[in-house]
Amino acid sequence: MNELFTRISVRKYTDQPVESEKIDYILRAAMQAPSAGDQQPWEFYVVTDPETIAGLAASSPYAGCTAKAGTVIVPCYRTEGIFFPEYAQIDLSIACENLWLAAVSQGLGTVMLGIAPHEDRMQKVEKILNLPANLKPFAIFPVGYPAEARPQKNRCDQSRIHYV
Ligand SMILES: Cc1cc2nc3c(=O)[nH]c(=O)nc-3n(C[C@H](O)[C@H](O)[C@H](O)COP(=O)(O)O)c2cc1C
Repeated sequence: MNELFTRISVRKYTDQPVESEKIDYILRAAMQAPSAGDQQPWEFYVVTDPETIAGLAASSPYAGCTAKAGTVIVPCYRTEGIFFPEYAQIDLSIACENLWLAAVSQGLGTVMLGIAPHEDRMQKVEKILNLPANLKPFAIFPVGYPAEARPQKNRCDQSRIHYV
């Protein structure tokens, strides 16, 4: 799984549009994630409307790079009709890692921009996307062809491994 060791946060994108087949692939990968009790609490908003993208870019002090992407994915989670709501954000985290790695596998660049659990950011995104009351935004993923490249930082630290 090469993508595990090449994935980086990409915050600059070329103007080349992302093919809808690639977005489909990424979302399929995200939805193959495991979840508590297989509850699959996710919903994915795919945003290409420039005004909405500008709003999302301003929804968090650290989401500015969203403005430069032609496609933005906003993974959300349902708060009703799921078995284990306390696991919903954990389920979304796992789906988001699948999404990110799948984007890399398609030659795309993206970065996870934290929205949940910050209530102020969540409320802004809820308003921008006009989400129903039972749906909470989890993160923002601007997606595009990368206009930056660098090797991944080596984080392997043998001292963090404890054999008992
Ligand atoms: C839960 C989470 C929230 C993050 N939120 C932001 C964010 O709001 N803005 C941003 O620019 N990067 C954000 N990042 C990206 C991290 O800063 C980045 O993954 C980290 O510095 C490691 O760098 P790398 O992804 O290039 O390996 C977030 C990453 C995670 C996992």
